[in-house]
Amino acid sequence: MEHTISVTAQAERKVTDTKSVPFGKVPTEHMFMAEYKNGQWHHAQVVPFHDLTLSPLTLCLHYGQTVFEGMKAFSMEDGSINVFRMDKHYDRFNKSLHRMCMPPVPEKLFINAIKELVSLDADWVPKDADGSLYIRPFMIATEDRIGVKVSDEYLFMVVCSPAFQYYTKPLRVKIETTFVRSAAGGTGAAKCGGNYGGAFYPTSLAREAGYDQVLWTDSVHNEFIEESGTMNAMFVIDNVLITPELSGTILDGVTRDSLLAIAREKGINVEVRQISYNELIDAFEAGRQVEAFGAGTAAVVAPIATIAIGHKEYNCYTEPDALMFRLQKELYDIRRGIVPDTHGWNNII
Ligand code: COI
Repeated sequence: MEHTISVTAQAERKVTDTKSVPFGKVPTEHMFMAEYKNGQWHHAQVVPFHDLTLSPLTLCLHYGQTVFEGMKAFSMEDGSINVFRMDKHYDRFNKSLHRMCMPPVPEKLFINAIKELVSLDADWVPKDADGSLYIRPFMIATEDRIGVKVSDEYLFMVVCSPAFQYYTKPLRVKIETTFVRSAAGGTGAAKCGGNYGGAFYPTSLAREAGYDQVLWTDSVHNEFIEESGTMNAMFVIDNVLITPELSGTILDGVTRDSLLAIAREKGINVEVRQISYNELIDAFEAGRQVEAFGAGTAAVVAPIATIAIGHKEYNCYTEPDALMFRLQKELYDIRRGIVPDTHGWNNII
């Protein structure tokens, strides 16, 4: 299979003040695209960013056969550019594609697409310590047909956008016990568009009630924590880092995985297991110190200040010495080359 990527660069568009723009609103100058047809990938190319033309019959518009990834490139201390944990993102992308009956992307094509694109748009990688270039690989089903079927044609694309803090203040979240994000055997572990669209309604109700996000619970007992909005959920109770296991209903988060590895390395007690909201109530009521945070590529570490469980609100520990901030700092420092990358997570391009 041929994976040569043609590059058509456009005259430089000035990098504007991207810090004040909401997450994901400003694309960089170029994008990558490749078409899948007759069982093969064709026309792999980096081109100036432009709108797509799609037939109203296009399958993805009707049946949600879409998958995406979210990864980041960082400006290193020495001026080089680092795309963080490309292999893990690639692996998850293909697992999601498999679940959604979509063709795998060859590893070389995925890696080279990102390398070519990020190198060409390198000026868009923020130099600020809290900035990064958000990289969004995605695939959509493009066959023109409204009959319900697995598409025979696809478009694999990568777009980028400078990113800063996703959440600007500690979150207020609500334990969700009415609606569920996913159930055993469903698509909860896949990064497919429908998982996010389906979360909008419960999240909008939570917002109306004064919360930023929901903390999803399991579909059987509505009791065990799953994940939160765009992030995995993590807790620190009496210095033990606790996060739900990968049961198949939550996303195998790359930030989750990185924070767990860093915590273990630092000798912190880590428990990957079910955690119920009743356990949280017991901890709060007993006056124990509870940290809660979301972990995700876009959000990195998003502290949770308040958790509403039923009609009662509980306050979490968010002081600067909280464990979550120490883990976050280590992650930042690895990604920017301030401390050694002993895991082989960095990909200097
Ligand atoms: C990410 O953290 O990369 C995500 O995909 C979450 C969100 C921006 C959809």
